[in-house]
Amino acid sequence: MNGDSAAAATPSRSGRTALVTGAGSGIGRATAHRLAAGGAAVACLDIDAAAAAATAAAIRDRGGAALALTADIADTDAVTEAVAEVVAWGSGLDVLACVAGTVATDHTEHVTPEQWDRIIRINLTGTFRTIQAALPALRRSRGAVVTVGSIAGVAGRPYLAAYSAAKGGIVALTRALAVEYAHSGVRLTCVCPGSVGTSMPSAATPPEDAPPELAERGRSLLPRRRAEPEEIAAMIAHLTGPEAAFTTGSVHVIDGGAIA
Ligand SMILES: NC(=O)c1ccc[n+]([C@@H]2O[C@H](COP(=O)([O-])OP(=O)(O)OC[C@H]3O[C@@H](n4cnc5c(N)ncnc54)[C@H](O)[C@@H]3O)[C@@H](O)[C@H]2O)c1
Repeated sequence: MNGDSAAAATPSRSGRTALVTGAGSGIGRATAHRLAAGGAAVACLDIDAAAAAATAAAIRDRGGAALALTADIADTDAVTEAVAEVVAWGSGLDVLACVAGTVATDHTEHVTPEQWDRIIRINLTGTFRTIQAALPALRRSRGAVVTVGSIAGVAGRPYLAAYSAAKGGIVALTRALAVEYAHSGVRLTCVCPGSVGTSMPSAATPPEDAPPELAERGRSLLPRRRAEPEEIAAMIAHLTGPEAAFTTGSVHVIDGGAIA
C-alpha cells in the first residue's frame, strides 16, 4: 500500500471523507467522481496504482480533494494500513463504498480450487476486510457503507458459481452488519447492478458453447442496454447521503428489469 499524501492536501472537515475501493475504473471511478462532486474528500483505492492516481488527479483537477491509495483488498494488512492512512488524512471517515471486485466465467466442473479461492478472496473476503478495518472510524462518524453485489448474488446466473457465491455473500454480509451496527448509527446497504458498461462484462462472457437461452440471462428488458457506471454511482451517492438516513440493510437492484 502506498498513498500519494504528498500530493494531496488534507481536506477540511466541512465536508465528508469517503473511501472508494476499485476507484481506478468503471463504477468505482464514477463513484469517486460523484462523491467528490457532492463535496466529499475522496480516497481512491485500487490495486492498480496508476489507475488510482489518475482518478485522484482528475478529482483534484476539478477542484476537489483526493488521495490515491494502492492496495489489494484481499490483503488484510494492506487494507488496514490504507484505511488508517485515509482516517489520518481525512481526520475521520464518513463514507465507504466497497466497489472493487473481479469476475471469471467457466463451466462449474472446470473451476479449479485456485480460481474459486481467488474470486471469493477478492470479492467477499476483501469487502469484509475493508469494512472491518473501517468500522471503528465509521462508528465515530455514524457513517455509511455501500457494498456492491450483483444480480448474480440474488438471482441464478450460469457459469458464475464462485462470483455468484461471493456476491450473494456480500448481500448477506451487508444485511448482517446493518443489523449489528444499527444501534451504532452505521448504515450499510448493497447495490446489485445488472450489466454495466465497464470493462467487466467482457470478462463475464459465457463459455462459447453456452446454450443461447442461458447466455441471454441477465440482459436488461427496458431499455435493452447496459447501465452507465454513473447510474450506479448516483445510487451509491444517494445511499450514503442524508436523504437515505432511514435506509439500512436494504438491497438495491439496478438492472433494467433483468430479474424483475
Ligand atoms: N460491470 C458490470 O456489469 C457489473 C455488474 C454487477 C456488479 N459489478 C460489480 O461492480 C464492481 C465494479 O466493477 P466494474 O464494472 O467497475 O469493473 P472494473 O473492472 O471496471 O473496475 C474494477 C476495479 O477494481 C479494481 N480491483 C480489482 N481487484 C482488486 C483488488 N483485489 N484490490 C483492489 N482493487 C481491485 C480493478 O483494478 C478495477 O479498477 C465489482 O465489484 C463488480 O463485481 C459489475
